[in-house]
Amino acid sequence: MKILAGTSNSKLCRDIARHLKLKLVNSNITRFADGEVYIEINENIRGNSIFVVQSTSTPANDNLMELLICIDALRRSSAKNITAVIPYFGYARQDRKVVPRTAISAKLVSNLITNAGANRILSVDLHAGQIQGFFDIPVDNLFSTPIFARHIKKTKLNNLICVSPDVGGVERTRALSRRINSSIAIIDKRRPTPGKSEVMNIVGSVKNKNCVIVDDIIDSGGTIVNAAKALKGKGAKDVYVYITHAVLSGQAVNKIENSSIKRLVTTDTIDNSKKIRNSKKIEIISIAPMISEAMKRIANSTSVSSLFK
Ligand code: R5P
Repeated sequence: MKILAGTSNSKLCRDIARHLKLKLVNSNITRFADGEVYIEINENIRGNSIFVVQSTSTPANDNLMELLICIDALRRSSAKNITAVIPYFGYARQDRKVVPRTAISAKLVSNLITNAGANRILSVDLHAGQIQGFFDIPVDNLFSTPIFARHIKKTKLNNLICVSPDVGGVERTRALSRRINSSIAIIDKRRPTPGKSEVMNIVGSVKNKNCVIVDDIIDSGGTIVNAAKALKGKGAKDVYVYITHAVLSGQAVNKIENSSIKRLVTTDTIDNSKKIRNSKKIEIISIAPMISEAMKRIANSTSVSSLFK
């Protein structure tokens, strides 16, 4: 078992290696002068089970291409099998045709990764569970719900309600509510144009409750900030937010700082150390222990799903 670190999230790769007491594969990943990716593996990996760790976060196209080229290099170096560990699987939000004549990028990216030579995928909170079916190789989809539930229990907040920021997130919200023993509310969100979101209704009573919004992605921050505002408008006490993948584009961090959100907790599937350096509201908890444990179980052919029982 060996780990090849992509360059999108070096800190997470080092943390995973530390948990597994392994050294990262000796490699050079650089760019040609025109931006093309160049990779060289500097040690023998023939016959090894290799885990290549790379989130396809911003710059999404560069990081995706780097992942594909890493897989190609591993395949041509006679690795026994290649697991693509993609903590944040980008291009996932176009997982069906919502309007005519659009792409299904999640399927295209799945094809690219499989055709490059990956034998297995390990990811965290895929935007939609059915993306597993876009791959014809095994996919292990980990959930951050247990980590979030542990964090919420430590805060010792009472009178909690879990809130789904849109209909698509109900399953995730229900899973968290079961773990922290709370009821749920659902926000009816509409997107008048891509990138803009509006709260239409809130299903469930949030008056005087501590609301815990849970979502897979925060990108521009519009969904969560509008949701928090609407919850406060309906008499919620405080609003806490738990997000797996902090994409945090544009002014998202400022929006959060100036919003009615009390605290936003996220994981390190995406490296945000620079972006949130001065944030007073954003807290990061590491996903490295969970990913490392899943990698160990894959290498030993033991159950990954029992991690979530
Ligand atoms: C949408 O279905 C996702 O789960 C997120 O709610 C969405 O991507 C968040 O985007 P933004 O922060 O730009 O509103």
